[in-house]
Amino acid sequence: MEALSVAAQRRHPPPPGAGADWTIPQRWSQYSSDEHAIWNLLFRRQQAQLEDRVVAAFKRGVQALGLGSHGIPRFEALNERLNALTGWSVVAVPGIVPEEIFFHHLANRQFVAGRFIRTLAQLDYLEEPDVFHDVFGHVPLLADPAYARYMQAYGEAGVRAPQGPILGQLARLYWYTVEFGLMRAGEQLRLFGAGIVSSNGESEYALDSPEPLRIGFDVQRTMRTDYRIDSFQRNYFVIESFADLVRLTADADFTDLYQELARLPVIPVGTRLPTDVVFPPNRH
Ligand code: PHE
Ligand code: CO
Repeated sequence: MEALSVAAQRRHPPPPGAGADWTIPQRWSQYSSDEHAIWNLLFRRQQAQLEDRVVAAFKRGVQALGLGSHGIPRFEALNERLNALTGWSVVAVPGIVPEEIFFHHLANRQFVAGRFIRTLAQLDYLEEPDVFHDVFGHVPLLADPAYARYMQAYGEAGVRAPQGPILGQLARLYWYTVEFGLMRAGEQLRLFGAGIVSSNGESEYALDSPEPLRIGFDVQRTMRTDYRIDSFQRNYFVIESFADLVRLTADADFTDLYQELARLPVIPVGTRLPTDVVFPPNRH
């Protein structure tokens, strides 16, 4: 594992109580029974909602990692299984961490997760990622080898990237894959983005609503497209498979792409370009 550089530690002093890499203990024993009950409620609701909507790799991950409605997972136990499968682990952090810290963890196959859980009043909407979004939404796919590779390569790309517009482009790529990605499965589309998978409303909207655009994945198009953080997305991008995503990103050289992107304007959300391959909503 690569240690966080001294310079990076100086640039981003951690909040009180956190380690130099911003991690904190999960303190699993301090969750209340009400908090465990919220996890269970959310888990059961999404389990039903995702049954015929999520990619198969997600369901395999849930199974393999033993996620269920038996309370908020204990990271230690979860990590034993996850580590054995792909070398990834989950670490707790106090909230949103600086980009540089985030990239560093991903490059080391460490997924940073919030340890708090939303309240009943926030069941459907909250501004900061909680343990349900982070663990239920993100972690099952980290058990998939191709996805695991993509996430690490993404972290490495972030570590290498200079300050400036490239960081915005990488953020859009993350947004439209890791958070809001769709995958083609024959004639139908399936979900894999954690932001959709952990949202009851958007997991229906993203596949079924006639409103948003569902555009065939193209690295450059994705890295140019603006995004909304305060509402359901106006456009989604559709990959063919995780292997294909790895081929187009991790295995591709972005040098020329970054050069080209520097000359191209950002595309507003909900724009349909003549070059876009557009998919219809799922039929039932
Ligand atoms: N392969 C890209 C490069 O050459 C880096 C990258 C990997 C970017 C994975 C995004 C995701 O720079
Ligand atoms: Co997320």
